[in-house]
Amino acid sequence: MLQNADQSMGRRYSGVGTRSLLLAICSALAASIAVEAATDSNTIWTSLNTTLTGRLRQSEPLARPCFPNFAGQPVPLDEAACAAVRTNYTTNLFRDAQPAGYMNPQSEMCLSDPADQCILDTTTNTTAPAGMPSPNATCGRGGVPSHYVEVQSASDVLAALDFARAHRDSDGVYLVVKNSGHDYMTRNNGGPGEGMEFHDCFVPDGCSGAETAGMRAMTVAAGESTGDAFAFAAAHDSLVLGGYSPTIALSGGWILGGGHGPLAPVYGLGADRVLQMRVVTPDGVERVATAYNEHADLFRALRGGGVGGAFGVVLEATHRLEAGPLPIAVASLKLPNDTPTDTVLEWIELQTQSSLRWGREGWGGHVAGLYLTHFNPLPAIANLSDTSAATASMREASDFVLAHGGTSAVEVLPDFLPAWNKYVVPGATKTAGNARFISSRLIPQDMFADEDGVQKIMSFLKSLPTDRWNPRNLYVPAATPFVAHTNGTYGRPLSTVETSAVHPAWYTSLWALSTAFTLPWNATYEERLDTFTWFTEVTQQQEILTGEKGGSYVNEANLFTQDWREAWWGSRENYERLLETKRKYDPQGLMNCWKCVGFEDADLVGERFRCQGKLQMAIDERIGRD
Ligand SMILES: Cc1cc2nc3c(=O)[nH]c(=O)nc-3n(C[C@H](O)[C@H](O)[C@H](O)COP(=O)(O)OP(=O)(O)OC[C@H]3O[C@@H](n4cnc5c(N)ncnc54)[C@H](O)[C@@H]3O)c2cc1C
Ligand SMILES: *[C@@H]1O[C@H](CO)[C@@H](O)[C@H](O)[C@H]1NC(C)=O
Ligand SMILES: *[C@@H]1O[C@H](CO)[C@@H](O)[C@H](O)[C@H]1NC(C)=O
Ligand SMILES: *[C@@H]1O[C@H](CO)[C@@H](O)[C@H](O)[C@H]1NC(C)=O
Ligand SMILES: *[C@@H]1O[C@H](CO)[C@@H](O)[C@H](O)[C@H]1NC(C)=O
Ligand SMILES: *[C@@H]1O[C@H](CO)[C@@H](O)[C@H](O)[C@H]1NC(C)=O
Ligand SMILES: *[C@@H]1O[C@H](CO)[C@@H](O)[C@H](O)[C@H]1NC(C)=O
Ligand SMILES: *[C@@H]1O[C@H](CO)[C@@H](O)[C@H](O)[C@H]1NC(C)=O
Repeated sequence: MLQNADQSMGRRYSGVGTRSLLLAICSALAASIAVEAATDSNTIWTSLNTTLTGRLRQSEPLARPCFPNFAGQPVPLDEAACAAVRTNYTTNLFRDAQPAGYMNPQSEMCLSDPADQCILDTTTNTTAPAGMPSPNATCGRGGVPSHYVEVQSASDVLAALDFARAHRDSDGVYLVVKNSGHDYMTRNNGGPGEGMEFHDCFVPDGCSGAETAGMRAMTVAAGESTGDAFAFAAAHDSLVLGGYSPTIALSGGWILGGGHGPLAPVYGLGADRVLQMRVVTPDGVERVATAYNEHADLFRALRGGGVGGAFGVVLEATHRLEAGPLPIAVASLKLPNDTPTDTVLEWIELQTQSSLRWGREGWGGHVAGLYLTHFNPLPAIANLSDTSAATASMREASDFVLAHGGTSAVEVLPDFLPAWNKYVVPGATKTAGNARFISSRLIPQDMFADEDGVQKIMSFLKSLPTDRWNPRNLYVPAATPFVAHTNGTYGRPLSTVETSAVHPAWYTSLWALSTAFTLPWNATYEERLDTFTWFTEVTQQQEILTGEKGGSYVNEANLFTQDWREAWWGSRENYERLLETKRKYDPQGLMNCWKCVGFEDADLVGERFRCQGKLQMAIDERIGRD
């Protein structure tokens, strides 16, 4: 349960989940322990555990207690633990607190091998506990790592890196960074966990001061959640930018991939607002990286290219703050669930036509098939003493939902936290536990500027087969950076485009148009191949829709994207630049994950990526690639 204590003052968000930054160690050794009880292997783990002063743990899939066997061996059912897992299977905070808890269970599954997973059925009755597996069902490890390290300091990371270096080639040991487990693309499977510090006047390492003089900032350890960071900032009369989900790690994958949020149109991406990072690079050195010191190349690469720990394990990041309390206008419009498809499409078209104006006026948030949730911090709209500008700006959309039996709330709240607690948190507590996949595409602003562009977007949506995709489920973050016309008053204070590695299309786009589906928990291999082939064709159609002016969000992309280097980082040259930085800080290629910087086509075959590689090759064969 999320508790929004003291909501009247709007000062707190408190989740009960605790977690630390984890370094998962995946290893063929685990199998050899089970099968051969190889004493050598045990000695290896024991000595690592000693170095880590006992913070090495073994891990098993979340739902293992509900199965009478694990990895081919009979094991006892644990009824109490199983009941807790079943009851809380879709609860974000429950998963967040478990070492093997991922928001999206594709990280637990082996996508290419349906027999190798340990997943429960959440579909038969969504309000009841997840289904009990049949008595003869098998629990497979899937993508869940054998061991993990609870990272408390840089020295834990260094010890794990030493271990991986020593045992990678001989024993197939590799490391994976797992933080909150929000990754959609299986890049997290297989200490300074906590802590936040406020700075009145932060000067990044190596900075002479002029550019960031007097800048308010907060340093957030990698394991801290977005919700706790929002509360900490508010307690210091400040605002830190974050995404929607309270459990996302603010200094983890969110900034490493880009980081959009409802205030991005005015204040930029999470990656735009980071001033400094402390990171242990794979070459075994703890470094402080900023745009102004000798690790400017690393700092750039981390922000946009850093998912999967490609450039190292981030221990903490320092984020720029805005002064609070900051009045926020909110628009929360909803259509009834049973709205006919034609009306849903009309609603989507209305939003497509209005979205650029909303963005220019400072609004950002979600555009969707059955709702709209937008926030706006600009004073002309977020006027506490007069909501008429906010109401007028949203009038046409409000009138539409009201005319079709929906509800409309447009109001101005005194600060971001109460607005987010009221309009986002209640819908974000039980969204986990289903294998949801997203293919997003950044849509250029100029496509929204005229009716021709709007109709192209609508034609794309209408071309999606209704048996696979329902327009009611449309979900679009309208949260690209610096869309708002602020006359230079807000945003872009640093030379951000030049110093981060996110796809350049972020700065000329308006929507991250998402097509999503949920893979049934028990889909057969043929069903998986069929669905992901369709999905990858959709990704291609999205690319055609925008041409080269678009791009894809590395955090919310189709993991089977074929031209992923260009799609996620803009061009082969941009990718090569990242690769150069990768070779400098990770000369041995110690950190590797699925389609992270440094991933090679040769990695498609082989044990390490067997759960993704087999399907990828089969999809490529079906679609054909140039
Ligand atoms: C319900 C939900 C809502 C979301 N909403 C938004 C949103 O509003 N805006 C948005 O931009 N994105 C959103 N996302 C996507 C999210 O930002 C990404 O999945 C992000 O990568 C999550 O990072 P994490 O560290 O919390 O999760 P994890 O799955 O633990 O990590 C994600 C990736 O980052 C790497 N990583 C994490 N921590 C570190 C570290 N300290 N050092 C090095 N590598 C690390 C992991 O190895 C992994 O590859 C959402 C995702 C979900 C599931
Ligand atoms: C590591 O040591 C701790 C403390 O002795 C112990 O609780 C834990 O089980 C050990 N981990 C492994 C993987 O053996
Ligand atoms: C799991 O669900 C049960 C019953 O609803 C609840 O009492 C318990 O607190 C939950 N556990 C966690 C860790 O969320
Ligand atoms: C679903 O589960 C809930 C809670 O256990 C129960 O009240 C409800 O009757 C169930 N619905 C169906 C259709 O079985
Ligand atoms: C498991 O048991 C069910 C009936 O409970 C049966 O239909 C199914 O074939 C069995 N599966 C296996 C793999 O034995
Ligand atoms: C807010 O509204 C009041 C009352 O209409 C008006 O006087 C004031 O100028 C407005 N503030 C801004 C920033 O537009
Ligand atoms: C920016 O300037 C234009 C033209 O002067 C003005 O109409 C607009 O309201 C200004 N916007 C903001 C956010 O100040
Ligand atoms: C998967 O499970 C659902 C129940 O959730 C069932 O209706 C369906 O037949 C199963 N599919 C396969 C392929 O076993």
